Amino acid sequence: MARHLITSALPYINGIKHLGNMVGSMLPADVYSRYLRQRGHEVLYICATDEHGTPAELAAQEAGLPVSEFCAQAHDQQKAIYDGFQLSFDFFGRSSSPQNREITQEIARELHRNGFIEERSVRQVYSNADGRFLPDRYIVGTCPHCGYDKARGDQCENCTRVLDPTDLLEPRSAISGSSDLEVRETRHLFLLQSKLTEQVEEWIAANADHWPVLASSIARKWLTEGLQDRAITRDLEWGVPVPADVWPEMAAEGKVFYVWFDAPIEYIGATKEWSDAAPAGEVRDWKSWWYEVDEAVRYTEFMAKDNVPFHTVMFPATILGSRRPWKKVDYVKAFNWLTYYGGKFSTSQKRGIFTNVALELLPADYWRYFLMAHAPESDDSSFTWDLFASVVNKDLADTLGNFVNRVLTFTRKRFGDEVPAGHAAGEAEQRLGEQLAELLAEYEGNLDAMNFRKAAQSLRALWSAGNAYLDEKAPWLQVKTDPEAAALTLRTAMNLIHLYAVISEPFIPTAAKAMRGAFTLTDDTATWVSPEEAQALDFVPAGTGFTVPPVLFAKITDEDLATWTTRFGGE
Ligand code: MF3
Ligand code: ZN
Repeated sequence: MARHLITSALPYINGIKHLGNMVGSMLPADVYSRYLRQRGHEVLYICATDEHGTPAELAAQEAGLPVSEFCAQAHDQQKAIYDGFQLSFDFFGRSSSPQNREITQEIARELHRNGFIEERSVRQVYSNADGRFLPDRYIVGTCPHCGYDKARGDQCENCTRVLDPTDLLEPRSAISGSSDLEVRETRHLFLLQSKLTEQVEEWIAANADHWPVLASSIARKWLTEGLQDRAITRDLEWGVPVPADVWPEMAAEGKVFYVWFDAPIEYIGATKEWSDAAPAGEVRDWKSWWYEVDEAVRYTEFMAKDNVPFHTVMFPATILGSRRPWKKVDYVKAFNWLTYYGGKFSTSQKRGIFTNVALELLPADYWRYFLMAHAPESDDSSFTWDLFASVVNKDLADTLGNFVNRVLTFTRKRFGDEVPAGHAAGEAEQRLGEQLAELLAEYEGNLDAMNFRKAAQSLRALWSAGNAYLDEKAPWLQVKTDPEAAALTLRTAMNLIHLYAVISEPFIPTAAKAMRGAFTLTDDTATWVSPEEAQALDFVPAGTGFTVPPVLFAKITDEDLATWTTRFGGE
């Protein structure tokens, strides 16, 4: 038994996330956490909203709310959706928490003490009308190369050239539209990542070989370009303030840390939030997960590929520079993009399916299963309504749902409300058992390796094995000539349902609970079963009471399909 620390990249606060965000971080982390818990490991699954930075300020402005109020509401809104998706966080925190402020400031002090932070002067565009400095991308103007009139200060979207804000012709503020801009001198803190290059390289050399290629290749590529010193403060109102004991002047000017500096520290901050929120009598020791921990803690991070550099290079540099024994990541599970008909899911362009809307259409299990079965692991993968409907209808409604319903309904009709006994197991059951043991071992291997697509395939193969067995034995025919033979088949099939309840839990927790709940067993736990136990298939003995749960998965009709394709836009 091991201790598993698991985190998902922190969803940004500025709006409701779409399915592409869900599949690349939170959902796979949840599947993995659930699996490990079932196997008896100690799991701490931590996530939080990432709340600081300019986009949060702008979103608050748009909503007409003070930023703290906006974030509090947006956090609750996201939390409710993740509950709806059955994400089993041990804690879902907020990067604006006092805990994160304290730890972020402490790490900054340590970096300073160790000579890795330096104050430097920079020239930056100031907007008089907005009363603030503008980040490069909030300055717009005409591109000097192609004449595009909505080029941003960091890049022209039209000709893709990289720009400096001072290159723009007729520059103006993206916030107010004002052209009353000037270049002012200001001071910022810089993290001297160049000085940490060697240590980060050593750490990556020692660890990245064990990561999936997607993560290790991005990390290595980033390193070959060399670590640059980077500004870790901003002139914003909303953020972790620079600690006044070390930088009194900057604190007085209202400088805060850059959002990417404090966001990953919130993994630790949220763990402290979890600890501080312990109910009376329960001891939660956050430091035992993060500080001076022994090898028994294994830390796995889940994220989309654009987040990999921050997690494999920048955040480790911060931690290494603190010279403190903070736990560093052991395994980085990264994902490619889920596309919507081959194009980008886009929050700003409202393209694709948002998590709140998804739950209005169908319960979480439908999405959870589809998304994991088509997770963008080795490559990008594309969401289309046709594919979604066919997966739901075949795998969930037919292969699993219909099996459960058929078996329980037929048994009740012919044998009443208790699992029937029938003959002793024969050759067909023997073969089925061997097949189950093999498939379950394969399923476990895929989950252990976090190969979610393959794991979903193994799970589906386990469901199919039950269908093949049932079709071969045909209890609806057996019952006419040899009721005891039919009873054996049905008892076996009912044991399969219980097996499915246990092993499907990481993917489809609601249906799993309904399947488990069909049997009146005193011990209603979802504890994992071994391949040997699967082979023996003796979970619900003859005489166990049962009920028939409502249909587990409804089919998606052609009508639904037409409605949704029109509503959300197909190709
Ligand atoms: N909010 C970032 C994003 O959506 C991810 C932050 S991950 C963290 O891309 F670890 F830095 F918080
Ligand atoms: Zn241009």
